[in-house]
Amino acid sequence: MNVDRKVQTLDEFTIQQMRDFPHATGELASLLRDIGLAAKRVNVEVNKAGLVDILGDAGTINVQGEDVKKLDIYANNQFVGVLKHGISCAGIASEELDDYFAFDDPVSNQSKYVCLFDPLDGSGNIDTNVSIGTIFSVYRRITEKGKPVNLSDFLQPGKEQIAAGYIVYGSSTMLVYATRRGVNGFTLDPSIGEFTMSHPNIKCPEFGKIYSVNHGNFFQYQEGVKGYITACQKKDATNGGPYTQRYIGSMVADVHRSLIKGGIFMYPGTIEKPKGKLRLLYECNPFAFIMEVAGGRATNGKDRILDVMPEKLHQRSPFFVGSTGMMAELESFL
Ligand code: AHG
Ligand code: MN
Ligand code: MN
Repeated sequence: MNVDRKVQTLDEFTIQQMRDFPHATGELASLLRDIGLAAKRVNVEVNKAGLVDILGDAGTINVQGEDVKKLDIYANNQFVGVLKHGISCAGIASEELDDYFAFDDPVSNQSKYVCLFDPLDGSGNIDTNVSIGTIFSVYRRITEKGKPVNLSDFLQPGKEQIAAGYIVYGSSTMLVYATRRGVNGFTLDPSIGEFTMSHPNIKCPEFGKIYSVNHGNFFQYQEGVKGYITACQKKDATNGGPYTQRYIGSMVADVHRSLIKGGIFMYPGTIEKPKGKLRLLYECNPFAFIMEVAGGRATNGKDRILDVMPEKLHQRSPFFVGSTGMMAELESFL
């Protein structure tokens, strides 16, 4: 009887990882399972977004002053719901919620972790069937157990992340997550409804040939950024130019490509918005963590993203992330 099989599901993997730590409680494995479940539910809705009346603006504006699409709200509710019912998460913060949400029930007040989310990233792309995603970040609570979590649990520097990950709802649906031990990618196998290991131990190549930036803002960028973008377009670029420019406008998809193939993703500050657009806590930090574990780097143009001490839940930050070689190239211009 041959009972060997090569495929390993997300749940099997996280439980196996836990076994390597004799004192592990299994809470992180359970948290990742909860996130995987919410992701599958969101995936179902994303896949039929063109069919049902879930497209388009929900008619409200989120706390960032941007239009909220119906799927954003649906995704937010799925992640909040699943984590509130689970045993591992004491509270969450989300792009779609003004304030953090302490679950504050007897089970959650004993839970070890807090989560931060961008429930649907790139939602401006939904109407046109372009890849979108979810981003998440996990911290160990710093307040004592037995009480509801508070703002200090969420305002930790990115280097304290225990895990971070994303789901990309693309030509296939993938969940990628990092702990300090490594970055692993799981592709959703629709036939069994399970995320299945497809990209073990992801490493970001030292160099890529793709740079990713909103070119329309070119004249709004600082001189150093303009200088680097121009250098990318020249034949003598370090890795043999000109590099190719790709910009999907869903950072999950753009950074995913940069992680797998090597490359650099930039969302610099502009004259009008010196801090750029992306949110430090649930967009920049998780990708900075994933990229560093994979061997790449992430900065705000000056400092390492993961060292920045956050002040507000929804604060924005310029963001540069990618292959070490290209990040060094960029820095020689800044
Ligand atoms: P969100 O849909 O969560 O608001 O985020 C969209 C973000 C990010 O995914 C993308 O890289 C960026 O917005 C694109 O912005 P521009 O259109 O300004 O380039
Ligand atoms: Mn986003
Ligand atoms: Mn979003």
